[in-house]
Amino acid sequence: MKTTPTPAFMLEPILAPNSDAGTSRDAIGFGQMVGKGLNTRHGTILTLEDISVSFDGFKALNNLNLYIGVGELRCIIGPNGAGKTTLMDVITGKTRPSHGKAWFGETLDLTLMSEVQIAQAGIGRKFQKPTVFEALSVFENLELAQKTDKSVWASLRARLTGEQQDSILQVLETIRLTHSMHRPAGLLSHGQKQFLEIGMLLVQDPQLLLLDEPVAGMTDAETEFTAELFKSLAGKHSLMVVEHDMGFVGSIADHVTVLHQGSVLAEGSLEAVQADERVIEVYLGR
Ligand SMILES: Nc1ncnc2c1ncn2[C@@H]1O[C@H](COP(=O)(O)OP(=O)(O)OP(=O)(O)O)[C@@H](O)[C@H]1O
Ligand SMILES: [Mg+2]
Repeated sequence: MKTTPTPAFMLEPILAPNSDAGTSRDAIGFGQMVGKGLNTRHGTILTLEDISVSFDGFKALNNLNLYIGVGELRCIIGPNGAGKTTLMDVITGKTRPSHGKAWFGETLDLTLMSEVQIAQAGIGRKFQKPTVFEALSVFENLELAQKTDKSVWASLRARLTGEQQDSILQVLETIRLTHSMHRPAGLLSHGQKQFLEIGMLLVQDPQLLLLDEPVAGMTDAETEFTAELFKSLAGKHSLMVVEHDMGFVGSIADHVTVLHQGSVLAEGSLEAVQADERVIEVYLGR
């Protein structure tokens, strides 16, 4: 049997401290629409300052500064090797920065938290390759993802409360898989598996969603639906989307960050960064 690593959502919950120790860091964003229990007083859900990551002397991230507003949908673009995935690794605790600060809300220091603590504090990550349980139904996959404190079999045996069931049904509608809820996840198309995995994040109601190349391998129709989905999630959640597909980026983002050699090269609307000479030189004009 193929072994599957235990996803973070099945491990014990650990409550992260949330004392009110506000700072005067810059704030951009949309006010306090999301962030239940999270201190986002200045409207910033994620603050990265002077972040560096070295791999054997090579700087994958180099004094990077990035601020994501509450409810914002931010796209991160940049050439291969720019540091986009490493950036997500730092936010989720997979890679520790050698230097710099990383805050979730005002008070949670991500550099001191484990990957599990970070996931449970409300940061959900979707990797490029879907990791759904193929033998279980679509509904069961969502059910498992929702229950953060039980083993697989204990979760499936435990009765769902009406509220839990409603939330799964609502997510099924959101990801357009209501009609496939009883099908084994292994029978879904590549795109549908991607949507299921997004659903598995949504049932946990994360405040910040990190999505690495979400439309890679999708059909045009699936890509279009993903754009609609992300736009509908923004506001309720904050999203950070890494993508090479500029058509897709143009259809969802009002704010784009261009990474190059581990630092922020430019920020602004897609149009503005595409017109930036430095960006054309290092990336778009290649
Ligand atoms: N664990 C590692 N050990 C050594 N070097 C690494 C490691 N992870 C990433 N790198 C290097 O760091 C740089 C940034 O990699 P990263 O995967 O973050 O780029 P990316 O922007 O996501 O690129 P792509 O668009 O191709 O996915 C690359 O030069 C990569 O080879
Ligand atoms: Mg990458």
